Amino acid sequence: MIGATSGIGNELAQILIQNGYKVGITGRRLAELERLKKRNPEHFIVSSFDCTKENNSKKLNDLVDQIGGLDLLIFSSGTGNLNKSLDFEIENKTNLLNVNAFTEIVDRTFNYFEKQGNEHLVAISSIAGIRGSGIAPAYNASKAYQINYLEGLRQKATKVKMPIYVTDIRPGFVDTDMAKGDGQFWVATNEKASRQIFGIIQRKKEIGYVTKRWWFIAKLLWLVPNAIYKRM
Ligand SMILES: NC(=O)c1ccc[n+]([C@@H]2O[C@H](COP(=O)([O-])OP(=O)(O)OC[C@H]3O[C@@H](n4cnc5c(N)ncnc54)[C@H](OP(=O)(O)O)[C@@H]3O)[C@@H](O)[C@H]2O)c1
Repeated sequence: MIGATSGIGNELAQILIQNGYKVGITGRRLAELERLKKRNPEHFIVSSFDCTKENNSKKLNDLVDQIGGLDLLIFSSGTGNLNKSLDFEIENKTNLLNVNAFTEIVDRTFNYFEKQGNEHLVAISSIAGIRGSGIAPAYNASKAYQINYLEGLRQKATKVKMPIYVTDIRPGFVDTDMAKGDGQFWVATNEKASRQIFGIIQRKKEIGYVTKRWWFIAKLLWLVPNAIYKRM
């Protein structure tokens, strides 16, 4: 679980344990990982690292060795901030994690799975990736990148005729540290959202909206003409 120190990744890691998985948990905040491990010391394996730093692949390889293999990787790490003044530092921080580190980790995972033959890659993108945002441009654009990238990997898996499943989870609002800004609605509890995400993972679905009714919002967003969307 990439990004298990808080929010969706933290909750999902606990659900996985309840369902018999052995789970490698990562994130920068070691204390949070240790707190999680205390709940089930035998089945949680801790590795604290920053996904945007150079040592990430070594850390991930070591973790996979400690677990004894990998058949499901969930990329839940993510960041994004409101950025009305277009401060490049803010945008760059978002891109470094949601675009660069995401690409590096899902690529390495896909290549690993291709050698193994039959595994499952999951990433938490966002409903935000459907259209652009004037108040958090990099966040929405980075989530659009993830959505598009995962579609590409799904096509690649089909072409190489490998049973590698690629699941794109697109949450609406979930009550975690990440949920920022005014005007939020249909905010799901983390427990409910994570339970639904686990169900989507079990069914190996390609795309899952969380909670389910965000599917309607996605359809609506696609339908709004540019001339209207830019004024919203
Ligand atoms: N909450 C929502 O409303 C919502 C809606 C749509 C999509 N999402 C997506 O869901 C995913 C999980 O977010 P969340 O809501 O659970 O928020 P969260 O509680 O803030 O979790 C974010 C996770 O990302 C990790 N992370 C941040 N920077 C990192 C870095 N440089 N290296 C490694 N890990 C890093 C954090 O761990 P450390 O800080 O310990 O490193 C934390 O575990 C994100 O991709 C987010 O975009 C959330």
